[in-house]
Amino acid sequence: MNEGVQRKYGPLGTVLVIIPTYNEAENIKPIVGRVRSAVPEAHILVADDNSPDGTGKLADELVAEDDHVHVLHRKGKEGLGAAYLAGFRWGIDNGYGVLVEMDADGSHQPEELPRLLTALKGADLVLGSRWVPGGRVVNWPASRQFISRGGSTYSRLMLGLPLRDITGGYRAFRKETLEQLGIDKVASQGYCFQVDMARRAMKAGFRVVEVPITFIERERGDSKMSRDIVVEALWRVTAWGVGERADRILGRKRSGR
Ligand code: GDD
Ligand code: MN
Repeated sequence: MNEGVQRKYGPLGTVLVIIPTYNEAENIKPIVGRVRSAVPEAHILVADDNSPDGTGKLADELVAEDDHVHVLHRKGKEGLGAAYLAGFRWGIDNGYGVLVEMDADGSHQPEELPRLLTALKGADLVLGSRWVPGGRVVNWPASRQFISRGGSTYSRLMLGLPLRDITGGYRAFRKETLEQLGIDKVASQGYCFQVDMARRAMKAGFRVVEVPITFIERERGDSKMSRDIVVEALWRVTAWGVGERADRILGRKRSGR
């Protein structure tokens, strides 16, 4: 938790839940339905990277029958971070006050969203966290737990940040947080996007709060996580950490890289 800046928090505006999709045809309708019942006032934006399995067409069907559902059709697979950045831009341009990140595969429970939103009333950014007391993971093999816990611990030490779950993908941002961070400056396109956003928010002195969540591994469809993605994220975190240390030693002030 970062107590850096004392702010008076205004009311939360309208909530937009952004769901990035790549080949989530079996999952898209159930997850949208669950969000609609769990938080009926929220809107949903599906950010689809032209999924070959027709996820985008299914999203169009939802849009046609529900004015709270929207879709952003992107031209091809550009990564999770790129899809979220485009979704944030769309949400800010369309007047939403809260931008939520949520996976399409049911790993993030829409029924827990009200708890994240309650925490956001007194914070700039809320992270759904698997690794704080009360948080947990269901149906993950030991290998995946090891990668996630190890990745979080490594990032925490390397970047010197007091966050337990720095890679997680269930988050709620105030619009103002994204505006002040300047999302156009964020270059991370893949999974390291999550670490990058948390790191930038902490460095900017925002109040970042972790709320325990239950992460349930997907039952349908395939994860897009790969060895290359993990290796890329490790490289990035190492480069950020080394860069920050070098700057401190040299007494340089760092511009948001
Ligand atoms: N539009 C788009 N483009 N969506 C994508 C892309 C892409 O290139 N890659 C993945 N997604 C979507 C998936 O369709 C899914 O809705 C969501 O992003 C998460 O993808 P998964 O493949 O299910 O990720 P995961 O379960 O391995 O990873 C989860 O945990 C990570 C940390 O441990 C996610 O929550 C990650 O955000 C998180 O970093
Ligand atoms: Mn998943």
